Amino acid sequence: MIAKDERQAHRVKEFFGGTRAEEYQRAQYRDTATFIGRRAALLARRIADVSADAGRNVLDAGCGPGQLVSDLCARGFQCTAADLSRAMVERGRDTVRERSGAGSARFAVGDVAHLPFEDGVFDVVVCAGVVEYLDEPQHAMRELRRVLRPGGYALVPTTNLWSTATPFTALSDLLRKQGAVRGLINRWWTARGNPPVRERVFRVRRSRPSRFRRLLVEAGFEIERAEYFYLMPLPYPLDRLLPRVAAGVLRLTDALTSTVFGRVSEGYLVMCRRPEEG
Ligand SMILES: C[S@@+](CC[C@H](N)C(=O)[O-])C[C@H]1O[C@@H](n2cnc3c(N)ncnc32)[C@H](O)[C@@H]1O
Repeated sequence: MIAKDERQAHRVKEFFGGTRAEEYQRAQYRDTATFIGRRAALLARRIADVSADAGRNVLDAGCGPGQLVSDLCARGFQCTAADLSRAMVERGRDTVRERSGAGSARFAVGDVAHLPFEDGVFDVVVCAGVVEYLDEPQHAMRELRRVLRPGGYALVPTTNLWSTATPFTALSDLLRKQGAVRGLINRWWTARGNPPVRERVFRVRRSRPSRFRRLLVEAGFEIERAEYFYLMPLPYPLDRLLPRVAAGVLRLTDALTSTVFGRVSEGYLVMCRRPEEG
């Protein structure tokens, strides 16, 4: 019998395979107001912050189409990237190549729970948009720590369970399960040049921030900083449908993410460190 975690990994791999790699990149990085685009921009800033102290040898585990990697390469970081999906790895290589002057990166197909790298070789490890797909994230978190050098930093964002987007995302998942509704939405959506909305065939988990920090501590990290990002009061999927309005809203709400209102943001980023000893 196939283990639950393997079945989930297989579905995720299928979902992000083939032409989906390009579709994902077009949809998620098409403007500056998407959750994933904003997350990549925040990560690039935080990696720049810690690199002065930690070093510039960075691993992006679950790199997707290589957007963050290509940004980092363009700024002179030494980058390695891995992803479960071969199609994503190929897209990542192309992204780095297409961006003139982006330098080069090393790519590998690999599962974040079994990374194909030696112990302690990276100064900074980032793993964005992956923990949401893992049934047993503790294995992956321990693996991130293993490949990080003592004193190195891990930057691990997750999707906040308490976000205002949670009920709307649940509703949208329910609607897209209905073939007839999906067909109707897609007639309108694809006519505007967007990739079709698909049924989600795997689980996407949201985290309780306190539990997420505990997961990282139990994997052997010391928490350095935790922050909320992407405070979007526009109900999903309006934020995706009205990118200019969403960008304007984010300009207003960015300053609130560090206040009590931030607790309902969609994103939660934990920056943690592998202790020098251990
Ligand atoms: C939502 S995308 C995020 C991609 C990229 N980090 C970004 O922020 O654009 C999720 C990516 O994680 C990869 N992924 C999912 N499970 C994985 C696993 N167990 N090991 C490695 N990569 C995985 C998928 O193939 C996909 O490329």
